[in-house]
Amino acid sequence: MNETAAIPELDFDPYASENLLDPYPMHEAVRDAGPVVRLRPYPTLVACGRHEQVHAVLNDHANFISGAGVGLSNFNLETPFRPKSLILEADPPLHTQTRTVLSRILSPKAVMQIRATFTAVAEQMVERCVEKSQAQGSICGIHDLAQIYPLKVFPDAVGVEDDGRENLLIYGDLIFNSMGPRNALLAKAAERMGPVTEWIMSHCQRDHLRPGGFGDQIYQAADAGEISHEQAPLLVRSFLSAGVDTTINGLGNALYALASHPEQYAKLHADAALARPAFEEALRWESTAQTFFRTAGQDTQIAGIPVEKNTKVLCLLASANRDPRKWPEPNRYDIERRPSGHVALGSGIHGCVGQAVARLEGEVVLTALAKRVKRIEIAAPHTRRLNNTLRALETLPLRLIPA
Ligand code: HEM
Repeated sequence: MNETAAIPELDFDPYASENLLDPYPMHEAVRDAGPVVRLRPYPTLVACGRHEQVHAVLNDHANFISGAGVGLSNFNLETPFRPKSLILEADPPLHTQTRTVLSRILSPKAVMQIRATFTAVAEQMVERCVEKSQAQGSICGIHDLAQIYPLKVFPDAVGVEDDGRENLLIYGDLIFNSMGPRNALLAKAAERMGPVTEWIMSHCQRDHLRPGGFGDQIYQAADAGEISHEQAPLLVRSFLSAGVDTTINGLGNALYALASHPEQYAKLHADAALARPAFEEALRWESTAQTFFRTAGQDTQIAGIPVEKNTKVLCLLASANRDPRKWPEPNRYDIERRPSGHVALGSGIHGCVGQAVARLEGEVVLTALAKRVKRIEIAAPHTRRLNNTLRALETLPLRLIPA
C-alpha cells in the first residue's frame, strides 16, 4: 500500500445542497476520519477538517500557496474567470506589497475614525427595525438589518456612490460561488451578472470614488509609488468583493445565533459590553466563510501525510471552528466563551485584512440591539440562501420586543 492510499476516503460532496444546508454532520465525519481525507466526488483534492491542520496549512504559506486560487479551481491549470486578486490570490512578494497598503488603510487606528458614524447608523437602523416590528408584527433580520447596514456604512467608507449598490450583492454572490464547482449555484449567480462587472470595475476607478475614502487612499498609495496605478482599481475591487457579503452574513448569522439562544440574548441585553464577544462567538459558531483552499506549491505533507505538488487543499474553516479537539462543547453558542484562535477570519499572512471593520460592524449593531431591545423572538422559520462558500440566510423573521 503506498502512503497516499492510506488517506481515508469519504463520499461527501461539500457542495451538495444537503451539505450546504447542514454542513455539520459532514464536518464531524471528516474530522473523525483523520487529519487529512479525500472526498470521492473531488478525487484530486485533499480536505482538512480539524483545527490543528487547518490552522497549520493557513500558517504555512511557503508550502501552501494562494496564487493558484483559494477556491476549488487550480489557476495553474485553468484560467481564472476574472483577473486574479492582487492580495487574496497572491503570494509574497506581491502579497506583501499590496497587503502593506491595505493593512494600513484598514488599521485599527483608521477604523477608530469611522466608529462614531458606524455607531450612529447602527442606532438609527435598529430604531427603525423596532418601529417596524411594532407596526407590522415582525421584521426580516436579513433584509431589514443585516443586509442594509453593511451596504450603507461600508461603501460609504470606501467612498462608493449611492446609486447601484445592490450590484455589490450580485457581485459578492458570484465571487463566493465561483470558489466552488461549476454547479447550478454558480450558473444562477453568473446569469444575474449582466452589466454588474462593468459597474463594479467603473466604480473602482478614482473618478467614481469620494476623496479621502478607503478607495481613494489606495490611489494615494499609488501616487506615493507604493503600488502601481494599474494595481489600484483591482485593490479597490478587493474591498468591494470581500467587504460586503461577508459582513452581511456575519451579522445575519449573529442575529440568528442570538434569536435562537434567548438565554444568551438575555445576557447581552443585561450587559451590552458583551456585544463584541457575542459577535466573535457567532463567527466561530456559524462561520460565514465556510471554506478556503490552498494549493501545494511543492511536494509537502500535512500531519506527516504526503501531499503532492499542485494538490488543492480544502480547509474547512467552519469545521475547525467546531472541532471538539480544540473547543469544549463546540456546538454550544456561548457569548461568554472567548473563542480566540478561531479561523473564521482566516489565519496567517492572509488573515482577513478587513477584520477590524468586520468586528466594528458586529459590535456596534449588537450594542445598539442590546440597549434598545429586551427580547428577540423568532416570528417564523428562517430560510437559507445557498452559496458554494458562504453560510447565508435568505430570510430571518424576527419580533423585536423593545426595552
Ligand atoms: C464577518 C466578515 C468577514 C469575514 C467572515 C471574512 C473572512 C475572511 C477570511 C476567512 C479571509 C482569509 C482568506 C484566505 O485565507 O484565503 C479573509 C481575507 C480577506 N478579507 Fe475578509 N472577512 C470579513 C470581512 C471583510 C471586510 C469588511 C473586508 C474589507 C474591508 C475584507 C477584506 C478581505 C481581504 C482583502 C482579504 C484578503 C487578505 C489577504 O489575502 O491578505 N473582509 N476574510
